[in-house]
Amino acid sequence: MKLRDLVEAGALQLAEAGVAFGHGTHNAFDEAAWLVLWKLGLPLDTDLDALQGGGQDISAAQQAEVDALLHARIHTRRPAAYLTREAWLQGVSFYVDERAIVPRSLIAEPLASGDIDAWLDPATHNVLDLCTGNGSLAVLAALAWPDVQVDAADISTDALEVARINVERHGLQERIRLIASDGLSAVPGPYDLILCNPPYVNARAMAELPPEYRAEPALALDGNAGGGTDGMDFIRRLLRDAAAHLTPHGVLVLEIGNERQHFEQAFAELESVWLDTSAGADQVLLLTRDALAASFPSP
Ligand SMILES: C[S@@+](CC[C@H](N)C(=O)[O-])C[C@H]1O[C@@H](n2cnc3c(N)ncnc32)[C@H](O)[C@@H]1O
Repeated sequence: MKLRDLVEAGALQLAEAGVAFGHGTHNAFDEAAWLVLWKLGLPLDTDLDALQGGGQDISAAQQAEVDALLHARIHTRRPAAYLTREAWLQGVSFYVDERAIVPRSLIAEPLASGDIDAWLDPATHNVLDLCTGNGSLAVLAALAWPDVQVDAADISTDALEVARINVERHGLQERIRLIASDGLSAVPGPYDLILCNPPYVNARAMAELPPEYRAEPALALDGNAGGGTDGMDFIRRLLRDAAAHLTPHGVLVLEIGNERQHFEQAFAELESVWLDTSAGADQVLLLTRDALAASFPSP
């Protein structure tokens, strides 16, 4: 069998099994390509369409190994990244395991494109990645802005252990400090920039999550930890406290996924700047300290 045929057969298997995507790929072909190429030790960016004659011959032993991996993906319904122990964001590789959510934050896009830069004070030095999970946004921020120091905070010490692996993988121990913190409670500040991809999934959507998402820590997704249902429990607390943790020209960049309706219902008066992402211009927003202070005046 040729490489391309193996990927196509794998895609068919994944599609027929009805697995869910969204942890690095959005369709069966891309997911099969990832798993096949990874298992065979081939570059993950191999252009399968450009392969002459369908690419290299795959031995029976190699096919058996790929089959076992696809079987695990289908029967455990764990995201591919938990099986390969690796995820990619903006071309940067991250270690991941079940202690942390699979990194896929859309904040990585305006961070890489420079869209956030226009809002930053030239003297920007202190950055916080709140809800850091496996540390991917903290690492991307440190790589994008060589002069900044980054605090990476999470309530989950499990997630912070995974983040530590990534900080070391990228040699950023001198520039990223890991902090166990419930929201902003234990971070020093003030910060010139706070990045935050928090738990924001509403209660109804939580109840309907496919198994791939239930394989991730619920703490990372469930935005109703305070007993609410609209997914905004963490964000309510964050927005109330954020201005006090920002420098005068500081900004908060916040991801809310598909929860724009709930966000706008909860924070109708807030002056938000929506940032473009590949998933639309209603998933990531930017809030200035002034806008936060106007909506949430300090007591
Ligand atoms: C959606 S995940 C984002 C992880 C990572 N930033 C990323 O984009 O892949 C949300 C993270 O928030 C953390 N978290 C949940 N509640 C928290 C709280 N009260 N304080 C701090 N972190 C919290 C979870 O442990 C999880 O790692």
